[in-house]
Amino acid sequence: MSPLVATAIAHPNIALIKYWGNRDHELRIPENGSISFNLDGLYTKTSVRFDPSIEKDTLCINDQIMDGPDLRRVSQFLRYVNEISGKHYFANVISENNFPIAAGIASSAAAFAALSLAATKAAGLNLSEKDLSRIARRGSGSACRSIPEGFVEWRPGRDDEDSFAISIAPPNYWDLVDVIAVVKGKHKSIGSTAGHTFARTSPIQKARVADAPRRLALGREAILQKDFSALAEIVEIDSNLMHAVMMTSNPGLLYWEPATITVMKAVTLWRQSGIPVCYTLDAGPNVHVIVLSSHVTAIKTRILELPGIENILVAPVGGAAKFID
Ligand code: PMV
Repeated sequence: MSPLVATAIAHPNIALIKYWGNRDHELRIPENGSISFNLDGLYTKTSVRFDPSIEKDTLCINDQIMDGPDLRRVSQFLRYVNEISGKHYFANVISENNFPIAAGIASSAAAFAALSLAATKAAGLNLSEKDLSRIARRGSGSACRSIPEGFVEWRPGRDDEDSFAISIAPPNYWDLVDVIAVVKGKHKSIGSTAGHTFARTSPIQKARVADAPRRLALGREAILQKDFSALAEIVEIDSNLMHAVMMTSNPGLLYWEPATITVMKAVTLWRQSGIPVCYTLDAGPNVHVIVLSSHVTAIKTRILELPGIENILVAPVGGAAKFID
């Protein structure tokens, strides 16, 4: 019998071309493809122990016992893993993050990528990268992009079989860095799982989805050609389009704080002055400032001079999710 216990780590990722809205909410089949890179230095580490002698799952995140919706979401995911493995045990899950949760840094991506690896391994399965990515997607859509290494594209597919992410370039292909400006403000009130269900209520979503193949092609090509100015242009348009959908959905989602706009405007000016820098935002107020590594120190200094900045995290392009002994 397999040991029923395994540990894995995964990085969060930042989308350069965004995913927002599902064709199928339960399976998390997205309405459009997306492209991201993994964030090195930031991670979630998760251990799973299936235990035939326990009668319910337990979840501990950052030394805190979790109950309610967080535990329910993990339990639902573990039952799916049980279904695949044919072993119907409950589990103790222990997870730790080294970055702030629920503030526009994709904590659920790293969480479900690490959980997918640890849970399937603990259940005695040895899955391909494709299958791990498909399974991670069921926990949180963007988690499928935290399985492969480096720069990653999630091909939307049409069903559970063909919706998964692949690496389009390794971490050292291009020395981009995500300088995350954590702004002062409230933690987000509506998370992305609920947000995806509102996307179709925005009259802008249809146009955003229809135009996605063009943005994906431009984003992919800019990465492969290492063309920063082409990337910057499409990354900012794509982020603004997603936030336009969020703001005009019902209910409307306005994730920005005053400091968010301050950073976005400053980044635009810095790029006009010749610095290779651009911004992108996830479902939260923090600004992900994408920059070539040679400019990180200068950009950090400039961001810290702006009002309303709480903290800065710096993440180069990271590797794949992996097991730990
Ligand atoms: O995977 P989810 O449900 O957390 O959705 C992620 C949505 C965004 O972070 C806003 C965009 C993206 O593509 O990562």
